[in-house]
Amino acid sequence: MFAIAIDGPAGAGKSSAAKAVAKALGFVYVDTGALYRAVGLYLLRNGVDPRDESAVRAVLPRITVDLAHREDGQHVFLCGEDVTDGIRTPEVSMAASACSAIPAVRSLLFSLQTGMAERYNVVMDGRDIGTVVLPNAGLKIFLTASPEARAERRCRELKERGTPVDYAETLADVIRRDRQDTERAAAPLKPAEDSVLLETDSMTLGEVTDALVALARERMAPHG
Ligand code: DC
Repeated sequence: MFAIAIDGPAGAGKSSAAKAVAKALGFVYVDTGALYRAVGLYLLRNGVDPRDESAVRAVLPRITVDLAHREDGQHVFLCGEDVTDGIRTPEVSMAASACSAIPAVRSLLFSLQTGMAERYNVVMDGRDIGTVVLPNAGLKIFLTASPEARAERRCRELKERGTPVDYAETLADVIRRDRQDTERAAAPLKPAEDSVLLETDSMTLGEVTDALVALARERMAPHG
């Protein structure tokens, strides 16, 4: 199996690029942020503070998260319920970021991710894919962009989904989430030593995709 790991901060364009690369190569796209979002949604629905490690640990045995890959992309299930659409709100983003700092949450979701890479050629995006989840990935990419560019993209994305949000608030959220994701002790966001760094501020999605597909083809060549 060949795995492409794409890490980077929120809004760097990871998911759009990863989806396009997966399509071009016929790989399965795995959005690992959706898994943390599903846990975050459970905590919000059940009034559990996502920062309270012992409260979160206490409810973890009640949480099951699953993935399915269909024609229209990845679906994520929380205790059997398809929550693919419900996890894309700013509240869930913050809850996901907060609970993802808890090691027990990360271990709950670990084997789901490694299991996917054992069964399929994957393009997997997240924060710790190249560093922790798939340290032997055939290609590791660290995608980044300025906080302003990322906040703009997030606003545009949410507007297209019919839930417009305020730019200033989004920018503040992006910066807060960066800090939370980078400064945590468990699997913090950082480029793997052997990753290729791509700063996407002045790149279009097409340019990012082409660059990644070219890199992947280069790396896959020795694999036949
Ligand atoms: O990629 P995203 O914005 O959907 O991710 C939501 C949160 O989940 C993110 O702020 C941090 C966490 N996350 C993580 O800790 N590790 C991953 N591999 C993916 C996401």
